[in-house]
Amino acid sequence: MMALSARLLSSVFAVASLFPLLIAAAPSATDPCADIAGKTFVPPADALACLKAFPFNETLRQNVLTNIARVFDFFTFEDYYLNSPPPFQESTNNIRETIKRINSTRYQTDYDFNKDLYDFTTQLNDGHTRWFPDCYTSFQNILPAPVITIEENGVQGVYIAFDSVEFLSQLGPDYAGYFDSIGFDWKRLQGARVLQIEGKDPYDYVDQIARTVSGNYLDHGVRVNSVFTSYRISGAAFSQRVGDLAGPTGVAQNSLTFKLVTVNSTKVETVTVPFLANYLGSPFTDKDSFWAANCAANDATNGVDLKTPRTTAAIRRLAKGEIIDKSNSNALNLPPRFIPTVPPVAGSGGVIKSFVLPDNKTGVMFVGSFGGDFDGFQSDVVSAINSFQKAGVTQLLIDLTNNGGGFVCLGHFLHQYLAGSNIGYPGFVSTVRANPLAQKIIAADIALGLDSSLTFYSGDNYAFLNGTQISKSFNYITPSVPFVVNGRQDPTSQRFHDTCELFFSQKVPATPPFDLSKVAIVNNGNCASTCAMFSTLMNERHGTKIAVFGGKPGEQMEFKGMAGNQVLEWADLDTEIKTAGVKSDPLAPPDLLVSGNFRHNWRTAWSFFDENRPIAYVSELPRFRFPYTKDTYNNPQNLWTFAASKLF
Ligand SMILES: *[C@@H]1O[C@H](CO)[C@@H](O)[C@H](O)[C@H]1NC(C)=O
Ligand SMILES: *[C@@H]1O[C@H](CO)[C@@H](O)[C@H](O)[C@H]1NC(C)=O
Ligand SMILES: *[C@@H]1O[C@H](CO)[C@@H](O)[C@H](O)[C@H]1NC(C)=O
Ligand SMILES: *[C@@H]1O[C@H](CO)[C@@H](O)[C@H](O)[C@H]1NC(C)=O
Ligand SMILES: *[C@@H]1O[C@H](CO)[C@@H](O)[C@H](O)[C@H]1NC(C)=O
Repeated sequence: MMALSARLLSSVFAVASLFPLLIAAAPSATDPCADIAGKTFVPPADALACLKAFPFNETLRQNVLTNIARVFDFFTFEDYYLNSPPPFQESTNNIRETIKRINSTRYQTDYDFNKDLYDFTTQLNDGHTRWFPDCYTSFQNILPAPVITIEENGVQGVYIAFDSVEFLSQLGPDYAGYFDSIGFDWKRLQGARVLQIEGKDPYDYVDQIARTVSGNYLDHGVRVNSVFTSYRISGAAFSQRVGDLAGPTGVAQNSLTFKLVTVNSTKVETVTVPFLANYLGSPFTDKDSFWAANCAANDATNGVDLKTPRTTAAIRRLAKGEIIDKSNSNALNLPPRFIPTVPPVAGSGGVIKSFVLPDNKTGVMFVGSFGGDFDGFQSDVVSAINSFQKAGVTQLLIDLTNNGGGFVCLGHFLHQYLAGSNIGYPGFVSTVRANPLAQKIIAADIALGLDSSLTFYSGDNYAFLNGTQISKSFNYITPSVPFVVNGRQDPTSQRFHDTCELFFSQKVPATPPFDLSKVAIVNNGNCASTCAMFSTLMNERHGTKIAVFGGKPGEQMEFKGMAGNQVLEWADLDTEIKTAGVKSDPLAPPDLLVSGNFRHNWRTAWSFFDENRPIAYVSELPRFRFPYTKDTYNNPQNLWTFAASKLF
């Protein structure tokens, strides 16, 4: 060992004397990960060199692709992709053919294989159905020039965000210092008017990012808004999302070239802006430890048989409908000057922030997600509504901007609380796909006497359409119910309801606390899963006024992003399979050998407008569409005040 490294060293020196410039790079050529170890910010090319340090491995391809191919059997929308109905044609993809292509493509590195698979699933534009390889989603590339779209003097245009300096300075001296070290002044770009990006009209470039990078939302128009930087609630704090142009997952790009005019200037300049990648993964020191920490399967990668005794206390299993937005893991605050100046009312400590606007008649609930504390969310709704009533509020504005979803039952809760329990069932009619393995799982659950405490498949999770809870021994999937999509037989289970009322910890009023015609919704279309189900319920059942801000001028945009229903992470589905005791079935997906998650949309929500169509595929346009302005961009209170003047 000693002798070998001494020999290597001497040969490095021999080469180095001939090529002095290589002296620094030479030792790292063998381990590009060691080079970037311990650094929070690294140039994307250096990060990519580390990610590409792992050669393509056929065993891993077969493992991952087999897993994914078999999980797709459970994906409710697979056959819709053969010919996605308008206006969602952009997502059309023959999933099985694409898997075949990826199975027969030659890749140099494990990264190349995973990137192809990541891009394929991302471009299905269903935030519930994506491959997340933890190894390769461990960096967020950050461009010090996040973009916005606003209307100025009656004309909409793309600008570098007006708060880019204040916003990105929060990344700290290591981020800003890098640009100082290469002599790049990013701060002077703040507020610049953008004329071109990468040689294209800026909106065309935004469309390209929406097509290839953003994912999550079936509707292209909604994805356009994901490209821009925007306000949100992350965790329980006001936050600003960098946006998919300036803050994509991964390190695919090194720079972007803008043609722009800076503030107070008339000179058109061409500026190439470098990205700097933010490492979000676990600590490592070199290539092997990078793999061990981020890429190898760990205890949480695959599912477990819940019948075996566990040391951890039983947790309540609640259905979730939410997207994974990696940009939440290093969330930056919304700069203080944009935080509402009116004080929050009671019940604003979690994912909901509620306010009474200065007009004293408009209550605002900014519902940042349907996640967080399940019972806390419910008590916060009650506190906010009580405060509004005490304050004499007569109209209610709900802001769903960048709401990525959460617990399915919290969507039902908020809907029923606003509409009153007299409306009856507050959710959608639902089904699961009746593939042969799903039928075997349910048969096995029944034979084993399992119930909803251990499985999502057991009948007692759900109710018949008349509201009677289904018994755990009732087989609602065999016989299956025939259904045809794009000419393919795609049978489902019987239709059923959720049973969310069983989990409500707060009493729901019988009648609406506010005249429902005085309730309106604003958002940026980035409203996923449970959020999309909630807003669609408000639209389909109550005709609630919905206003969407932003987007590309002249391009259509839905008010909901992606309206799947319950999502199962890979580990959740595997837990269903293992708990039912059918893991040895040839149809069962194998355990993953790498740390990753192929999640999928597991249940469909059927539209009230057309019960043969999933709400995901029903185009429901907002009745109001407004551009952002200098005033409303990033400024929730200004936006709410504007919206209240237009919607009530
Ligand atoms: C490929 O991956 C498998 C599973 O991790 C591993 O056992 C095998 O050694 C790898 N093959 C090569 C050539 O590295
Ligand atoms: C990939 O192709 C090989 C060779 O045809 C086949 O044996 C294997 O089952 C395929 N894998 C997947 C996941 O389809
Ligand atoms: C632009 O001009 C205005 C008005 O003179 C001034 O207040 C502002 O500071 C200038 N901004 C920049 C970035 O130079
Ligand atoms: C709203 O209420 C506050 C406090 O009672 C009062 O000072 C203010 O003038 C009211 N504003 C309007 C527009 O009525
Ligand atoms: C509800 O429907 C189920 C299934 O059709 C049926 O067995 C049950 O008796 C019904 N319950 C009531 C209260 O009508």
